[in-house]
Amino acid sequence: MTGAKHGLDPAEVQAAQPKALAALEGFHKSFDEGRYGFPALPAQGRLLKQISAAAASLAGSYDTVCVAGIGGSALGAWALDCALRGPHPVQAAHSIRNPRLVILDNVDPEFIELALASMNPARTLVVPIAKSGATAETMATFLIVDEWMKQALGARKAAARTIAVTSQGRGDLKAFATANNLATFHIPESVGGRFSVLSPVGLVPAALAGLDIKAVCRGAASMTRQSWTADLAGNVALRSALYHYLIWTLRKKTIQVAFPYSNRLWGLAFWFRQLWAESLGKAKDRKGKTVNIGQTPIAALGATDQHSQAQLYMEGPNDKVFSFWAVNRWSTQGAIPKARTGLDSFDYLAGQSLAKLIDAERNATAAALTAAGRPNCTFALDRVDAAHVGAFMQLLEFQTAFMGELLGIDAFDQPGVELGKVFTFGLMDRPGYSTYAENFRAYEQRRKGQ
Ligand code: PA5
Repeated sequence: MTGAKHGLDPAEVQAAQPKALAALEGFHKSFDEGRYGFPALPAQGRLLKQISAAAASLAGSYDTVCVAGIGGSALGAWALDCALRGPHPVQAAHSIRNPRLVILDNVDPEFIELALASMNPARTLVVPIAKSGATAETMATFLIVDEWMKQALGARKAAARTIAVTSQGRGDLKAFATANNLATFHIPESVGGRFSVLSPVGLVPAALAGLDIKAVCRGAASMTRQSWTADLAGNVALRSALYHYLIWTLRKKTIQVAFPYSNRLWGLAFWFRQLWAESLGKAKDRKGKTVNIGQTPIAALGATDQHSQAQLYMEGPNDKVFSFWAVNRWSTQGAIPKARTGLDSFDYLAGQSLAKLIDAERNATAAALTAAGRPNCTFALDRVDAAHVGAFMQLLEFQTAFMGELLGIDAFDQPGVELGKVFTFGLMDRPGYSTYAENFRAYEQRRKGQ
C-alpha cells in the first residue's frame, strides 16, 4: 500500500500484526471445528477422480455444457472458463470455445430464449446447480431447459444428459434428481455458495468444459498451505487482509476496485465482487451488535477502464483502495509491426509489444494514483494458467475469511440474500410464503439451516 496521507505507514502495520495472527487463529479454529469447509476442497483427490471419470465417460457426446445456476452456483465456473479458455465477450455468460459453456444465471426471458436457440439438445449436457435446491431463478430455468430436452429427446435421454449438483440431504433439486435417476454430485454442507468453486459447483462444469481441474486444485492446495502459516511475510492472504482491513477502517476507504489488467481475469473480478460483497456486507457483528458494515467491490478492466473510470478514480472522492491484478508472463507478446509510418503517434510504438504496453499502462495508472494520494496494491500472477488461477482464487477466499475475522463478523452467511429469496417465493405464489409472517418464519428457518 502506498501514498503518503491516505496510505499506511509501517508502524501501523506492525502494531496490527497481533490482530492478524489472532484472525488466523480464529479462522483455523472454526475450520478445525468443521464449520467452514472451503480450505479442504483442493485436497479431495477422490472427488477429482470421480468428476474426471464422469466427464471422460461423456466425452464426444456433447458440444455444449449448459449450467442453470446463479450467484455462487454460477460465477466460479464462469470465472474459471474465462481465465483458462480465453475471454468471454464482456459480461456475456457463455464461451465461444468447443464445448461451449452456457451459463443461465438470469431469468431474463429473452436471454434464455437466445441461449436455447443457440444449443442443440442432442449435443447439450445440462447441469442444474443449487445448494439449497430451491432458488427460484435456477428452478425456473432448469424446468425450461429440462422440458426443452425432453421434448426433443424423450425423458430417458434427457435424464442421461443431466448432471445435478446440490446438497446431499435436503432440497427439492435433490428430490428431483433422485426421482429422475440423475447423476448427482453433492456440495458439502460446510461450503457456502461463493466459496464453492473448488467443490462440484465449479469443478463439474470446468471438467466438462475440458479444463485441467487437477492443476487448478494443485495450485489452490499450495495456497492453502501458505495461508495457514503464522507468518505475515509468507502468508499473502493474511497480509493482504490486514492491509485492506487497515486501509478500510483507518483511512475510510469504503470501496475496493478490483482492477485486472487481463481480459482473461475479467470473469474472476466478477466472481471476487460477489465473494467480497456478500461475505463482508453485514448488518450485525458476531456479538449481535448492529454494524451495517461492508466495503463495496467494483470490477474494472485495465487498460480499457482507464478511459471510462480513471478520471473518477484520480480526482473524485478519495474513498477507494485499488487492487491491481497483473500478469507477469503472457502466453503471447502481441508484437507491434516494426515498419515506420513517418508519423510520431505510430512510430514510437513500432517494434514494441502489447504485453509491454499493457504493463506500462498499469504501472502508469498505479503511479498516477499514488501521486494523487490514492492507496493501491498489486497482485501479480506469474501466468494465467490453471495452477495460478486456482491459487489466486484460494488466496482471495482466505483473504475474505480473514477479513471476516478481523471485522468480527460472520463472512459465511447471507441473510440478506435469503430474505430476498423468500419474498420472491411469496410474489410467485409459492404455498407457505403468502404473508409477511410466513416469509419471516421461512427466512428464519433457512437462516438457521444455512
Ligand atoms: O454465496 C451464496 O451463498 C449465494 O450467492 C448463493 O450461491 C446463491 O444465492 C445461489 O444459491 P443456491 O446455490 O442455493 O441456488
